[in-house]
Amino acid sequence: MDRRAIPLIAGNWKLFKGPGEAVAFCSALAVRLEGLAGVAAVVCPPYVSLGAASAALSGSPVRVFAQNAHWQETGAFTGEISPVMLLEAGAVGTIVGHSERRQHFGDTDDTVARRAAHALETGLDVIACVGELEAEREAGRTGEVLRRQVGALAAALGPNERLTLAYEPVWAIGTGRTATPEQAQEAHALIRGLLDVPILYGGSVKPDNAAELLSQPDVDGALVGGASLEVESFAAICDAVAGG
Ligand code: PGA
Repeated sequence: MDRRAIPLIAGNWKLFKGPGEAVAFCSALAVRLEGLAGVAAVVCPPYVSLGAASAALSGSPVRVFAQNAHWQETGAFTGEISPVMLLEAGAVGTIVGHSERRQHFGDTDDTVARRAAHALETGLDVIACVGELEAEREAGRTGEVLRRQVGALAAALGPNERLTLAYEPVWAIGTGRTATPEQAQEAHALIRGLLDVPILYGGSVKPDNAAELLSQPDVDGALVGGASLEVESFAAICDAVAGG
């Protein structure tokens, strides 16, 4: 299938919405998006809300992904969750390597690649995140950083039909500063040359900038943080890119 046939819009809830809020949100989202064609929607709740979200979305095409997954199935890894457990809880995919995991929780190119590999082997879809810091962009090192991050994933995984990448420039996450469509396209084209899979853009995506970002030839969807927390703004992004 053409990778661009249907744009993917994934909502990364981060540390928001316990099970009760997740049910209310997902029930309303299922109704709001009913009948909308031409876009694939995913929500990524915290672990404890995965079961509630997937139950509330049963019968809806909106899929549920986790925000992270461990590289082993079981073991002495306090606080970690494995892909097989995520599947049992109702998730069908997971994000790995989000910059907040890399910045605050010690994830490295190596651990991100191991998390992605085990999740894919277990049958989950994977969204693996890459992106440069502001200082790296200012120093002209964006290409070098992306080659290193994507290179580690490419070496461990190769192309896989269940693998998606997300280009998230760290300076654009939660800041309201979106990459320009040209900056996004340049980075996506570089990434595509290293690993030819669908590539989402992430970093302050909103209803009013989503369509322009997704009009770029190598931007295949969006990973949305803040604007995914309200049903109406998340749905408005889906509307804006559906069939576009
Ligand atoms: P943002 O977050 O949309 O709030 O910038 C994006 C992300 O962290 O995935």
